[in-house]
Amino acid sequence: MPILAILRYPDPRLHKVAQPVADVNEALQPLIDDMLATMYEAQGIGLAATQVDVHQRLIVIDVSEERNQPLVLINPVIVWASAERQKGEEGCLSVPGIYDGVERSVAVRVEALDRHGKPQTIEADGLLAVCIQHEMDHLMGKVFVEYLSPLKRNRIKTKLVKEQKEDARSGHGPQGRM
Ligand code: NI
Repeated sequence: MPILAILRYPDPRLHKVAQPVADVNEALQPLIDDMLATMYEAQGIGLAATQVDVHQRLIVIDVSEERNQPLVLINPVIVWASAERQKGEEGCLSVPGIYDGVERSVAVRVEALDRHGKPQTIEADGLLAVCIQHEMDHLMGKVFVEYLSPLKRNRIKTKLVKEQKEDARSGHGPQGRM
């Protein structure tokens, strides 16, 4: 399964809005497998199709310790979000090395199709709830650093642009862990 290239902030393609998947069929399966392989390889807990430059409403997640409980959400919709919100530290495979606090609902209910096109409802709290909200933001073209102050965001942008120039010179790829 090929490992896909993950777009890095501030790549403008991260701000494209994903379109719904029209048909969950066999043709979609290799992309799902490649996204899972890419997420595991990068030691991430979630990956949105947007991050691999595919602008369809598809995300993969695995928040298990054992890394053996893959979750595939196609055309996900948050049908309920708790009024209770909490600030937690987040990172992103598209923003390597940067972690900062983002406020999210502590619990959400999501309806989505699984990889076989079967409707599923997921009641999530804790890390899974955070991850679902983070990945669904990606599908809307939103990266978590956009919740931070403009000052912080600009610092991050400058740092990442500099690193990417250095990586391009040295031939090193992204180093993201989450
Ligand atoms: Ni992310």
